[in-house]
Amino acid sequence: MDFQDIIIKKRDKQKLTKEEISFFIQGVTDGSLPDYQISALLMAILLNGMDAEETAQMTMEMAHSGALFDLSSLPGFKVDKHSTGGVGDTTTLILAPLVASLGVPVVKMSGRGLGFSGGTIDKLESIPGFQVGVTEEDALTYGKTSHLVLMSQTDNLTPADKKLYALRDVTGTVDSIPLIAASIMSKKIAAGANGIVLDVKCGSGAFMKTQKDAEALAHIMVEMGQHVGRKVTAIISGMDQPLGMYIGNSLEVMEAMEVLKGNVKGDLLEVSLLLGAHMLLLAGRVQTEAEGKALLQQQIDNGAGIAKFRELLIQQGGNSAIIEQPDLLPLSPCSLEVRAEKSGYLTHMDTAKIGRASQETGAGRAFKEQPLDFGAGIITKKRLGDYVEAGEVLAVIYSAKDKACASAAEIFQSALTISAEKAPLPPLVLNIIS
Ligand code: URA
Ligand code: CA
Repeated sequence: MDFQDIIIKKRDKQKLTKEEISFFIQGVTDGSLPDYQISALLMAILLNGMDAEETAQMTMEMAHSGALFDLSSLPGFKVDKHSTGGVGDTTTLILAPLVASLGVPVVKMSGRGLGFSGGTIDKLESIPGFQVGVTEEDALTYGKTSHLVLMSQTDNLTPADKKLYALRDVTGTVDSIPLIAASIMSKKIAAGANGIVLDVKCGSGAFMKTQKDAEALAHIMVEMGQHVGRKVTAIISGMDQPLGMYIGNSLEVMEAMEVLKGNVKGDLLEVSLLLGAHMLLLAGRVQTEAEGKALLQQQIDNGAGIAKFRELLIQQGGNSAIIEQPDLLPLSPCSLEVRAEKSGYLTHMDTAKIGRASQETGAGRAFKEQPLDFGAGIITKKRLGDYVEAGEVLAVIYSAKDKACASAAEIFQSALTISAEKAPLPPLVLNIIS
C-alpha cells in the first residue's frame, strides 16, 4: 500500500477503508511512516472529516496499538472519567476521591496538558513526592485496597495515540471531532473500565466552541463505547469561563483540597458532583442523579472525601501534610495583580486566552518537552455576571519571572470584557447524552 494514495484519497474527500486505516495506525505505531506524511493525513482528516464507521475503525486500531489494561481481577464495576480539556478544570482531583470513598473503584489513567488546557498528571506532579508512574500490578493492588489510583498512562497503552497527540499539538490538528473522539475513546477502551463518564467541554475555553459540535463529539463517543460493551454517559458542560477560581498546577491542587474540605462551593463543586453522580449511576450505586449528588456531598460533609485524598497521597508517596499546610505546595515568587480598567459587569471571558495566559506564567507548556513551573498560574477573583469597580483586583498572576507575570497579566486583561449592561449567563450544563 502506498501511503501517499491514502493521503490523496482523504484530501479528495473520500472514505478510507478499514485496511487503509489499519495500515495508517500500524505505520504510526511501528515508526515506519514519517511525521510529515502522518501530519498531512491528520490535516486532511481535520479538513474533510471521517464518518462514524471510519472513526470507530481508527479508534479500535488505536486501542489495540498497545496492550489493553485488564481490570477484570478487580472486583466491582470500575468507572472512569475523562474531560475533553478545559481551563481551571480540576474535577478529577475532587470526584475521584469522593467516588472511591463510597467503595466504587476508580483506576484512572490521566494525561498532561494539551495546548491551553491543563492535565491532571501535571497537577499531581506539583505535589512534593507524588509518583504518577504506577505499574499495572500496583494499580490493581491499590484498586483493591484504597479503590483509588490516579496514574499516568502506562508506556504500552495506546502508543499510536501518544504519537498522534504530540503531532496534533504542534500541527494545528487538535480540534477535529473524529480525531478527538478516536484519541479519547481508544485510551478509555484500552484502560479497561466498565463505565465511562465523559465531560465534553463547550465554549470559549474548549476545543468545541459550539453546542452543536460538542453534541456531535459526545454522540460519536457514547455510541462507540456502547458498541464495545462499555456504559458511557457524556455531560456537555460550559467552558465560557474557567471552571474553578484557580488555574495552574499546585494552585488547582489547593482549590481541589478546599472543595473536598467543604470550604469552597460554586461551579467547580457543581460539575464535580454531577460527573461523580453519573459515575455512581453507571456503577449501579444509586438510582438517580440527585441521590448520587447528595451521597457525594455527604462524603464531603463527613470528611470521607478528604480522608480518601490523604490515603491517595500516602499511597503514591506524596506529602500528605499539604492538606493541613497548603503552603508546603510550590507557589511561584513573583506575583502581579490585574485590576479592572473600568467599572461595569463582567460579560465575556475568552477562556482559551486565559489558558494561554496561564501557559505564559509557566504553568503550561509551549512546546512538548518544556519543564513546568508547578507553582505558577492565576488566581481569579471574579465570575461572569459580577459587577466590578474600576481599580478592583480581577486576578493575581504568579510566575517565577517578573517578565512572564507582566505578559500573562496583559493577556489576561485582554481576555475580559467589561460592559455597562449585564449579559445573560451561559449555562453550566448544556446536555446529558447516554
Ligand atoms: N483529550 C484527549 O485525550 N485527546 C484529545 O484529542 C483531546 C483531548
Ligand atoms: Ca485532559
